[in-house]
Amino acid sequence: MMERTLILIKPDGVERGLIGEILSRFERVGLKIIGMKMVWIDKEFSKKHYAAHVEKQFYKGLEAFIVSGPVVAMVLEGIEAVDLVRKLVGATEPKSSAPGTIRGDYAHHSYGYADKKGIAIRNLIHASGSKEDAKAEVALWFTAKELHSYTTVHEKHTL
Ligand code: PPS
Repeated sequence: MMERTLILIKPDGVERGLIGEILSRFERVGLKIIGMKMVWIDKEFSKKHYAAHVEKQFYKGLEAFIVSGPVVAMVLEGIEAVDLVRKLVGATEPKSSAPGTIRGDYAHHSYGYADKKGIAIRNLIHASGSKEDAKAEVALWFTAKELHSYTTVHEKHTL
């Protein structure tokens, strides 16, 4: 049941000074950060990361946004981490993300460049959507050497 999942704090989260707040949401439920770095990706890398979405109407705007500044990439490890993280992060669209989730508490949207509704979503975080996606995304963003094995206090106290 131990899983790894990829999280990105997108340029809006970095530029709004929310890195610490977002990290603390994961740390306080005992998820283990096993890899973390700040990266400024280019369009080519964006197309690899968002491969499933490149043909969609919103992709052009999403790409322009994700390459507009650095992101903080991290790998979290924990029991059923993929689902747990998605719950903590909340729904994609700000109007649907529940208060108490990271997006529900901080995400914005406005009329901007175009998906079909002309809405630019600024939802702070990417989190892998499934175990399969997580495996592929962790391998895309991190080398084996960048991932670390250590014991957290939570683990020490539940041995
Ligand atoms: S879909 O079509 O339902 O599979 O797409 P979805 O999972 O909702 O979204 C895929 C990613 O695209 C981002 N997205 C947007 N970003 C900015 N503006 C607009 N309008 C927009 N529409 C979709 C969405 O946040 C997903 O990215 P991540 O990084 O996974 O959150």
